[in-house]
Amino acid sequence: MSKLWGGRFSCDTSSILAELNCSLPVDSRLFAVDIDASKVYAEALSKAGILTASECSAIQKGLELVRYDWIEGLIEFKPTDEDVHTVNERRLTELIGDIAQKLHTGRSRNDQVITDMKLWMRKAIREILQTLRMVMEAIIGLAEKYPNVMMPGYTHMQRAQPVHFAHWILSHGFALKEDCARFIELKDRMNVLPLGSGAIAGNPLNVDRVFMQKELGFDGLTQNSMHAVGDRDFVIDFIYNASLASLHMSRLSEDLIIFASREFNFVRISDAFCTGSSLMPQKRNPDSLELVRGISGEIFSCLTGIMMTVKGTPSTYNKDLQFDKKYCFTAFDQLEKLLKVTEGVLRTLDVNIDRMESCLSPDMLATDWSYYLVRKGIPFRKAHHLIGQVVQLAEERNLELTEVPLEDLQTICPLFDIDIGKVANFHQIAETYNVIGGTSSNSIEKQLNVLKDFSCQIKKLQ
Ligand code: ARG
Repeated sequence: MSKLWGGRFSCDTSSILAELNCSLPVDSRLFAVDIDASKVYAEALSKAGILTASECSAIQKGLELVRYDWIEGLIEFKPTDEDVHTVNERRLTELIGDIAQKLHTGRSRNDQVITDMKLWMRKAIREILQTLRMVMEAIIGLAEKYPNVMMPGYTHMQRAQPVHFAHWILSHGFALKEDCARFIELKDRMNVLPLGSGAIAGNPLNVDRVFMQKELGFDGLTQNSMHAVGDRDFVIDFIYNASLASLHMSRLSEDLIIFASREFNFVRISDAFCTGSSLMPQKRNPDSLELVRGISGEIFSCLTGIMMTVKGTPSTYNKDLQFDKKYCFTAFDQLEKLLKVTEGVLRTLDVNIDRMESCLSPDMLATDWSYYLVRKGIPFRKAHHLIGQVVQLAEERNLELTEVPLEDLQTICPLFDIDIGKVANFHQIAETYNVIGGTSSNSIEKQLNVLKDFSCQIKKLQ
């Protein structure tokens, strides 16, 4: 036997088509899950009376020999091998003879490949969750290493309000928490077995789909075979989740690259995660984080790639769908690397506390000065306007906000009093932001606990 489908063909496949059609460089990594699913399918065929018990056992043992060959690097591809499914069946035939020819009864590579993909994805999601957790733990570690340290918080890249350093770094941790939740939700939603859908119409041989579902650890069955064989939404979801997680790391990288610049000098990225310049001897470039930003773009390209591929296909299976694996595996591999390098940067990051705190400037208290007037009964809009006038006066006289004499403040608003002097300490001001999610030490402790609990839950999923 050469091809799986050669019976009605009168000449050989053109070599360029054979080359384009061959997905082995990409899908070989499915060899083990393909074998797992085939073993269960053989059992279902046996239960349906298509295979005898001894044929089933010969096929199952043969499949284990095929697995051994893959693991030992003994599999050699033949020009007629199209994909991982072809190789497994061809090798099984070489090893156990004609009985192997019965395995594919009622099955199509259409339902086989998505079953394999789902089995692969379940494991991939488990791995990603643990890698996301490692980054989350690195973030938690930084928040705990620098408690009570303050920094300027930025909006529009302009100094906005004083915040705790831990508040800023944990903000990135909460994005990761959502990423984990998205992958967990996908793991639950996609875990329905397509096997038994055949090429398009289902299976006429009474294979017990519920039996296969249980054996392969699925929570349910796909309910429409035509939908099942053409559905790649679970692949798109996976790549979208990967894209979003990478986007979050790209934004964290951007923060860190800015903070590591000489102008900011808030953090120092370890030498282990920087490279030098071939021309300028003094340079220390944050290449690790630039690569994170770059890889994130590569992962988005997988998302647009898969969307463009699927959108043009008519319903059910079309060969275009074979590209799903290239996009999916690239997104997975690159996300894993991106997360690991980010974790490394965070675990070795030094924070320049003095420099960061020295960048807190009194103008960043303007909002709290407005709240000072609000507490004395002035409507916020009015208070905002009055403090705007104080800021203008300070700027005209080249003074800091806190240096404007009380008499001048009182000309702007008579409710200013000596107690305005208390609205000057950044640490004390931060403690007033004691709402859930706020920047007070107390709030941050709660945020830390939420993330720590969450990361414990993820750890249990290993
Ligand atoms: N290698 C193929 C893929 O990944 C398997 C399905 C092939 N089906 C077919 N009818 N030719 O999409």
